[in-house]
Amino acid sequence: MTKVIAFANNKGGSGKTTTCSNVGCAMALLGKTVLLIDGDMQLNLTISYFDEEQAHAFAESGKNLFTAIREERSLSGFLTHTPFEGLDMVPSTSLMSGIEFELFSKWQRETVLRKCLKEVKERGDYDYILIDAPPTLGVWVMNILCASDFVIVPVEASPWGLFGLANMFEFIEKAREISPQTEILGIAVTKADERKKYFKQTLETLKSLEGTRLFGQYVRVDSAVEWSQDQSRPVVAFKKTSRSAVEYMNLTKEILEYVDR
Ligand SMILES: Nc1ncnc2c1ncn2[C@@H]1O[C@H](COP(=O)(O)OP(=O)(O)OP(=O)(O)O)[C@@H](O)[C@H]1O
Ligand SMILES: [Mg+2]
Repeated sequence: MTKVIAFANNKGGSGKTTTCSNVGCAMALLGKTVLLIDGDMQLNLTISYFDEEQAHAFAESGKNLFTAIREERSLSGFLTHTPFEGLDMVPSTSLMSGIEFELFSKWQRETVLRKCLKEVKERGDYDYILIDAPPTLGVWVMNILCASDFVIVPVEASPWGLFGLANMFEFIEKAREISPQTEILGIAVTKADERKKYFKQTLETLKSLEGTRLFGQYVRVDSAVEWSQDQSRPVVAFKKTSRSAVEYMNLTKEILEYVDR
């Protein structure tokens, strides 16, 4: 059975895309088949694997998520291979900036993505489908949550990283009214700086949240992440020995343990 995992947090820059990209690639390196869906108009997940020219080609050809959603077609016709074995993607385009408007007039507008994903999910070609959400809380993110079995909330260990987290959890609860199977898998701490006193305090706060798992493996700040993104590669493949690559690999194994239970 294919399992769908969303990476969502309305706080911008919390590490959603970096985590989605690396967990997906790590899963593929561990022998799983994975589909990545770039749900953000910023195209960050798309350019984590493809250069700008290729991203432009996805926009021109219509082989992108926006076209699929607007035309309410199965995502099976919008899949692209990444350079990694067992790892495919549905790329984004900047047209995704208009997705809220497109959804507004659609019948059952919160579950359009779920319907577009149905065939791919039921076919079972992928072990996991990972969706990168934008930093918003609108109908589109509601679509992402309603199409998912699990939600991972990446949180940056900074003073503002926790601000607004309650809104995110309330929003997930609302999604669960439409899609009761959607479950919060856990919080993943990103961009951690152990030298900062604030980091430990953040970790303690997150640990104390009742009923929400905090993944044991956090990912520290590492310049290898940015170097890898500059080369359109996830760090787990770009520099396997870097600390962030090791940490993302461990985090992935932890995620797999809970998802496969
Ligand atoms: N472990 C890390 N070490 C260093 N930089 C990192 C790390 N993780 C993420 N970053 C950087 O932090 C920034 C935000 O990360 P990312 O784009 O993954 O967050 P996001 O939540 O997807 O952002 P948005 O809300 O805009 O979609 C990026 O510039 C990324 O390169
Ligand atoms: Mg992002």
